[in-house]
Amino acid sequence: MNKEIAIDGPAGAGKSTIAKKVAEKLGLVYVDTGAMFRAIALFMTERGIVAGELDRIKSKLEDVKLDIVYENGEQQVILGDENVSGKIRKPEISKAASEFAVIPEVRTRLLNLQRELAGKRPVVMDGRDIGSKVLPKAGVKIFLTADVRVRAERRYKELTEKGEIVNIEDIMSDIKSRDEQDMNRAVSPLVQAEDAVLVDTSALSIEEVVEAIIKIARDKNPEFN
Ligand code: DC
Repeated sequence: MNKEIAIDGPAGAGKSTIAKKVAEKLGLVYVDTGAMFRAIALFMTERGIVAGELDRIKSKLEDVKLDIVYENGEQQVILGDENVSGKIRKPEISKAASEFAVIPEVRTRLLNLQRELAGKRPVVMDGRDIGSKVLPKAGVKIFLTADVRVRAERRYKELTEKGEIVNIEDIMSDIKSRDEQDMNRAVSPLVQAEDAVLVDTSALSIEEVVEAIIKIARDKNPEFN
């Protein structure tokens, strides 16, 4: 069995926090694929392109120079020669990322990059379609979810801690519309892969979730012990 771990789930379920810790504990590399969709969304919005403009997007996609590098174990997203790891976290980019992610050409472009990264060394990769599409042979697949209110509260805390002025009801409605869009698109929608284990994090602490996933991984693959 391979050592890949795929973690999928809706916005705000805690995927990146959890995936990063699982990767650290098991000595794997963490790959955040949402950051790649965010980078494309940033690239397009900075050029005044919106998700409906298919022809412009297709022609501009060729100009996107996207690199994923690691600094002290942290994934950095480099667009052209700019490190955009901070910029891509803005709420308007979250929304745009979900809109651009419905476009098949955008997904194909990123699928190649995602598989290339996974081909270099064992990864914990998180996103929406990792277990179902990007790494269908991943040895461990987790579908991480939580109640929508809990997810909104977590995102609220995260953003206010960064000094952003946000409203919880707006966050909840953004999360709901992103879920709706991510689950209902034609290509690679957010789904629980058949062989994924469902982990509901609503009532669990970060450490409890990390431990639960490590246990699932060790039960499936003794090499993780
Ligand atoms: O995980 P995130 O919130 O950073 O992802 C931002 C958006 O990118 C998400 O709403 C949908 C899209 N996405 C996707 O379609 N497929 C992935 N594997 C990861 C993210």
